[in-house]
Amino acid sequence: MTQIAHHDRLLIIDFGSQVTQLIARRLRELNVYCEIHPYQNVTDDFLATFKPKAVIFSGGPDSVTREGSPRPPQSVYSLGVPVLGICYGQQVMMQDLGGQVEGGKISGGGGTAEFGRAYVTPADQTDPFLSGWFADGREQVWMSHGDHVSRIAPGFEVYGTSPNAPFAITADPKRHFYAVQFHPEVHHTPNGKTLYENFVKLAGFKGDWTMGAYRAEAIAKIRAQVGDKKVICGLSGGVDSSVAAVLIHEAIGEQLTCVFVDHGLLRQGEAEEVVTMFRDHYNIPLIHADEQELFLGELEGVTDPEVKRKTIGRLFIDVFQKHANTIDGAEFLAQGTLYPDVIESVSFSGGPSVTIKSHHNVGGLPEKMGLKLVEPLRELFKDEVRALGRELGLPDKFIGRHPFPGPGLAIRCPGEITRAKLDILRKADAVYIDQIRKHGLYDEIWQAFVAILPVRTVGVMGDGRTYDYACALRAVTSVDGMTADYYPFTHEFLGETATRIINEVEGINRVTYDITSKPPGTIEWE
Ligand code: XMP
Repeated sequence: MTQIAHHDRLLIIDFGSQVTQLIARRLRELNVYCEIHPYQNVTDDFLATFKPKAVIFSGGPDSVTREGSPRPPQSVYSLGVPVLGICYGQQVMMQDLGGQVEGGKISGGGGTAEFGRAYVTPADQTDPFLSGWFADGREQVWMSHGDHVSRIAPGFEVYGTSPNAPFAITADPKRHFYAVQFHPEVHHTPNGKTLYENFVKLAGFKGDWTMGAYRAEAIAKIRAQVGDKKVICGLSGGVDSSVAAVLIHEAIGEQLTCVFVDHGLLRQGEAEEVVTMFRDHYNIPLIHADEQELFLGELEGVTDPEVKRKTIGRLFIDVFQKHANTIDGAEFLAQGTLYPDVIESVSFSGGPSVTIKSHHNVGGLPEKMGLKLVEPLRELFKDEVRALGRELGLPDKFIGRHPFPGPGLAIRCPGEITRAKLDILRKADAVYIDQIRKHGLYDEIWQAFVAILPVRTVGVMGDGRTYDYACALRAVTSVDGMTADYYPFTHEFLGETATRIINEVEGINRVTYDITSKPPGTIEWE
């Protein structure tokens, strides 16, 4: 366990919810130091060493009505600290303390399965836990539960109800145990952060945890992990790997070497731009590895998105390994893996969860790899990485760059990847980004790119018939990449951009605009 002695610590016990990390994020926003630990690791001894000032039980996919379902150690209830249970965490708390939970019915009143938006109305309570809540008489919340509490535990009172959750908010004010059926950590519970704020205030947190503190502790952790060994850092030129590299450099200096891999899947002018930018600003040894033949060769004929991602992941590691072999004592590989990459590839806690995509820097890694991973940003969201980047003094042009995925243009080229298609894609993308910059929209957009579609369509240019590729423009707004909305360009902008692409890029004769949000789409096309 990482020991951070000089801060009050909040422990989040993870029961496997997809949004557990959002709890941590809300707490970081409140400048509270917290750690997430999977329930399996939280033992009596663990609690005694960790000494949490408060505990939160996350949600989770299991049912407390199932024998052997996840539980915290019972000693958690006698620590004398506030405990907050969320969704599955509420049900665990009720069941453990003498209440009752029932399996969900899909319809009918009085406690049923419930997914989506709901409204909670107050009971007659004035506990500070509810401070700032119910100002307008009711609060919108996000429900996502199959089971429900059918009887609350002794000592508990009802603080709020919704049509399908009579025990939407329950509390034992004497022991400072709070339990909610909904998820206050998600955006769809707009006032949810207030509940966390009230909870940490009740627990006595001072709110003295900042990005500066995160930086110092991340540096201490990197030093402890790496010792006197050497680290190779895969640099993509994106914000994440740049921040990771600068942070690690601050931690271990000359023990770090960066490797920028040109896999032939970069955007126009990207390799030169990144290498120059890095060499100009930092005194970190940087290897520029031109591996286009290797990657494009292996990707020939590959059409399945997961096979593409895994192939690229494997080749990245081969290249890093090759360079590591030339550096005496190189035992670690550093990556700018972020939390959304982790949650979409594997469950954070190692428990069961759905893989949405194998992000190359997480799920795409081969099982056997000679290098150990250093991933100092693994718990952060994109905007937090940007904040850390600012804290580290990275120039704005680094921090403001749109994210670019490790597998690069490969996942913007559905179907087979060919050099000819990549060339067309690069040109179209350059025109699109130029348009966005010219119209002053770059910083309003989270990410924008072109995808070349695996379809050719008929067109007419001049007097001739064309039979060329169609492409899709993508532009989204987002806070953390977990959810996204398409950007509402004007028709003028779209029309002008389509005309420019068709006129300036040979090989494209049709332009479409992708208006899918995430969910149900993902940001990238593969
Ligand atoms: P999706 O397509 O999953 O993308 O909605 C969310 C964000 O993650 C980026 N992304 C990746 N980044 N390696 C990365 O470093 C990957 O394999 C990867 N796949 C997606 C994507 O560009 C978007 O910003």
